[in-house]
Amino acid sequence: MAIRFDDRVAIVTGAGGGLGRAYALELARRGAKVVVNDFGGSVRGEDGSSEAANRVVNEITAAGGHAQANGDSVSDADGVARLVAETMDRFGRVDVLVNNAGILRDKTFAKMTMEDVRAVLDVHLLGSFLTTKAVWPIMQERGYGRIVMTSSGSGLFGNFGQANYAAAKLGVVGLMNTLELEGAKFDIRCNTIAPAAGTRMTDGLMPPEMFEAFDPKYVVPGVIFLASEGAPTGVVLCAAAGVFATARIVQTGGVALDTATLDADAVAAHWPAITEETQSIDYDSVGRQSLYFYEKATSR
Ligand SMILES: NC(=O)c1ccc[n+]([C@@H]2O[C@H](COP(=O)([O-])OP(=O)(O)OC[C@H]3O[C@@H](n4cnc5c(N)ncnc54)[C@H](O)[C@@H]3O)[C@@H](O)[C@H]2O)c1
Repeated sequence: MAIRFDDRVAIVTGAGGGLGRAYALELARRGAKVVVNDFGGSVRGEDGSSEAANRVVNEITAAGGHAQANGDSVSDADGVARLVAETMDRFGRVDVLVNNAGILRDKTFAKMTMEDVRAVLDVHLLGSFLTTKAVWPIMQERGYGRIVMTSSGSGLFGNFGQANYAAAKLGVVGLMNTLELEGAKFDIRCNTIAPAAGTRMTDGLMPPEMFEAFDPKYVVPGVIFLASEGAPTGVVLCAAAGVFATARIVQTGGVALDTATLDADAVAAHWPAITEETQSIDYDSVGRQSLYFYEKATSR
């Protein structure tokens, strides 16, 4: 086992089942002390208990590992403060944070209530803010941190009935893009996993043979790599069924139109050139993008 987490402490949110449980077990198997957070509610995020987190902690300790359970919700600021305080009390450090907790409130946009929107943003996006903010000063001080966000193909590419979830899941990519920049000088690396897996969240949504092929265990190695010392930073890693790929937001090379004659008709007339993808660029910050616009405009 080349990738090890001896002396490292990892918090995995939503680790009472599904993908999070699989990450927690493998982190512990590779030597990490793991804090298993799980609110323990339904897929909709209702009726929580600490039981799910306790079960996974028992699995880890039975296998000779070290783990602690926490049943707080990642969308509860006091609960997150408690989660991190308990981790520091028991293990004295936080090296890895995997923001994995998630719920669904699927409905078409026309039928979706703002309660459905807020509940989903609260767990996926604001929950990732809360946990990350709570560990950030600890990681800054130590000069080391590995943070994994959880996105989804739904956020990257869209999905019918998931306006709330898709917005939250692309939101965490935006959060990662900035944390990548702000964390660099502290060796805090932030990446995103966009998994697909057969879990209770996708039960009944895939044909049985696909559900089986998408076993969560096939996503685990990708997350372990993103949480490791040798991790990259600022990467969206898509993973399912043992297939790994990265996803990026790119901008086409574009065209500098003549500002003297610039109007909507000119944009329409140049649409094929504006959208032509062979010169696409993946910027590492908005500053570079602005510079590109300026240079292209002034070198016309
Ligand atoms: N399964 C997939 O195909 C798939 C695809 C894309 C993204 N994801 C994402 O992967 C993550 C894990 O999903 P999963 O498929 O394992 O589903 P899951 O329902 O098995 O796991 C989610 C876990 O999060 C916990 N949780 C929910 N709300 C919480 C809260 N407020 N605080 C703490 N814990 C909470 C749940 O109790 C549950 O154990 C989620 O973020 C999900 O959106 C999953």
